[in-house]
Amino acid sequence: MNYSFNTSIKIFKWRHWDIRWNRWNLISVSTLMAFCLLTVFVGQYIINYQTTKLPAAQFYEMDNSMKTWLDSDVPLQILNITADISNTLEDQRDDNKNELIGYTLHSNFVGSSIENFSKFIPENGGTPIRSIIVTTWRSGSTFVGDVLNSVPANFYHYEPLLDYEIIQIRGPPLAEEVLERIKNLLNCNYAPLDRYLQYGQEHTWLFTHNTRLWEKCQRKPHICWLHEFLKPFCKLFPFQSMKVVRLRLKLFEELLDDKKLNVKILYLVRDPRGTLQSRKHREWCPSNIDCYDPVRLCSDLISDYSASIRFHKKYPDQFRVIRYEDLSLDPYEHVEKLLHFFGFQLHPNIIKFLDTHTKVNYGGVSSTYRDSKSTPFHWRNDLTFDEVVKMQRACKSAMKLWGYVRAYNETHQKYFKPIRSKFELTRRNESGVRILV
Ligand SMILES: *[C@@H]1O[C@H](CO)[C@@H](O)[C@H](O)[C@H]1NC(C)=O
Ligand SMILES: *[C@@H]1O[C@H](CO)[C@@H](O)[C@H](O)[C@H]1NC(C)=O
Ligand SMILES: *[C@@H]1O[C@H](CO)[C@@H](O)[C@H](O)[C@H]1NC(C)=O
Ligand SMILES: *[C@@H]1O[C@H](CO)[C@@H](O)[C@H](O)[C@H]1NC(C)=O
Repeated sequence: MNYSFNTSIKIFKWRHWDIRWNRWNLISVSTLMAFCLLTVFVGQYIINYQTTKLPAAQFYEMDNSMKTWLDSDVPLQILNITADISNTLEDQRDDNKNELIGYTLHSNFVGSSIENFSKFIPENGGTPIRSIIVTTWRSGSTFVGDVLNSVPANFYHYEPLLDYEIIQIRGPPLAEEVLERIKNLLNCNYAPLDRYLQYGQEHTWLFTHNTRLWEKCQRKPHICWLHEFLKPFCKLFPFQSMKVVRLRLKLFEELLDDKKLNVKILYLVRDPRGTLQSRKHREWCPSNIDCYDPVRLCSDLISDYSASIRFHKKYPDQFRVIRYEDLSLDPYEHVEKLLHFFGFQLHPNIIKFLDTHTKVNYGGVSSTYRDSKSTPFHWRNDLTFDEVVKMQRACKSAMKLWGYVRAYNETHQKYFKPIRSKFELTRRNESGVRILV
């Protein structure tokens, strides 16, 4: 670039001194100047592009080569990735300590003072409290996920299977690789997760819900997607949560069985009519059968019900179910119960979150700022009776199992209460009678 720029100046000078100024000169000079300007603009664009789009490792190299390539007085800051990582880790250690001041766990973990959190911090050889929310799309998991993330010093893995797009995983061949990924994440092992990290760089909402991580990413974007940073960062957190909407419940048995992992699972279920109505508004849904088809949704709900019964018996301390509607009608009571199940106490942050997220309707469709008492029942007004009848036909058994009531006609649909008041998991005993699990 320097070379062509200098040459063009020489040509200009030479012509200027030795040949009379004429129309031909003017055209060539203009062309040359236009070329120079273009070169400068393209160069600038490349620099901008590199500082904003390239992953961190390349960014670092590019800086060095640009330094020799460009004038030395161009103000380019050389990034020291090692220093940035260790400073960010130090900051987060402090943040976590501050957040945990005065926080105690539920009596499941008696006498947990600030020092004792150490036994939950992977960096110190501890085992974190790991909580997973399992559900499907548009069933209230954004809300529950954010509640768990408002626990102090929580690291939120969000939905780790975003890159699988709009499919449900019900068994082989995908089940094995996604369980492997989930285990890697829960162990803060980011090195084998190239595909996940690559996807995240183009779809940053993979990380934006992980508020504590995202805050650091915004300050130091060049280290955000490096497994060399993510691994030690994740290991600072005593609490780790995740929500999964693409993997059916029965496949989580392997995780519940893994005693070293020590994971607790909450299965969140929603009235299929509410789920399907909410999905209708998402543009990613109508072209994907796992999303729009009531038959598939409801056979998943049946399969999840049998898994729930098995897990409830086999892992009584590690597994719970909740209906989104029950949670929404009484968020304070249910959130407290759920937190106790995971081992947490209410915290002023969580109460603040509930105060601001359950009483008013504002924000877009993906917002969790809702009037929680009416949101779950919107579908009664938004769906036509014909649509409801189709769903109810496909979902008869699923609705019966999960305690959802049928709408009988158009007027009934508008005012009835779609849930049976008290829901409990039941199974049939040998004589075919339904009994509580
Ligand atoms: C980067 O930072 C680390 C730690 O602060 C330091 O030891 C190292 O010398 C620095 N490297 C460069 C190239 O400045
Ligand atoms: C845990 O906390 C209790 C009560 O605050 C304290 O008595 C105990 O020594 C602590 N244990 C450890 C290992 O720090
Ligand atoms: C609608 O269903 C309700 C409940 O079964 C019933 O009481 C009512 O008479 C029905 N209305 C019409 C117009 O069929
Ligand atoms: C099944 O449950 C019913 C009601 O609790 C009970 O009367 C019956 O004896 C049970 N049958 C068996 C085989 O346990």
